[in-house]
Amino acid sequence: MKKRLVIFASGNGTNTQNVIQYFATSKSVEVVCVLSNKKDAKVLERANAAQIKAVSFSKAEMLSPDGLVKDLKELAPDLIVLAGFLLKFPEIILREFPNKVINIHPALLPKYGGKGMYGKHVHEAVIANNETETGITIHYVNEKYDDGATIFQTQTEVSPNDSADDVASKVHQLEYKWFPKIIEDVVLKQS
Ligand code: GAR
Repeated sequence: MKKRLVIFASGNGTNTQNVIQYFATSKSVEVVCVLSNKKDAKVLERANAAQIKAVSFSKAEMLSPDGLVKDLKELAPDLIVLAGFLLKFPEIILREFPNKVINIHPALLPKYGGKGMYGKHVHEAVIANNETETGITIHYVNEKYDDGATIFQTQTEVSPNDSADDVASKVHQLEYKWFPKIIEDVVLKQS
């Protein structure tokens, strides 16, 4: 049986689309559902276009024992992947899926993590601090923001005249290259 991935995303969803494409022809891993806390998120359109089940949920459903956690149990994921999911991931779900939730963060954690540090805010902070490098971190999710054990990190250079958009684009290239492969490694090791 194929290993089952469920993806959580809040916005545009280019990583989600990339992960869906990567596994579209896989014999061992499949994306079974994309979930979003925003009902008008572009990521839901992208999933629909790829014929992957795409569902939005409210914050109340996310936190209720009869809500999302129940649906997730039915989906029976081997791995839950956060790809631009901007809410704190609920403990009620973490408890049900220990060591089965991973996140991608667009910086070299522990730098530039924590509440409010997402998307463009991260890249603006990197530039404001005159960093010469940034990167991506793929890590397990725990009950704190951007705090679980690191699985993978890789770097890219920040040039003195890079804008936040330039940095975002460099970081996205790293994400597209590495995230599907790391997901594959992690999920194939899950029992
Ligand atoms: C990605 O760069 C991801 O690392 C980041 O949001 C972006 C989503 O892009 N996640 C965070 O900032 C989480 N703290 P996408 O919607 O195009 O995949």
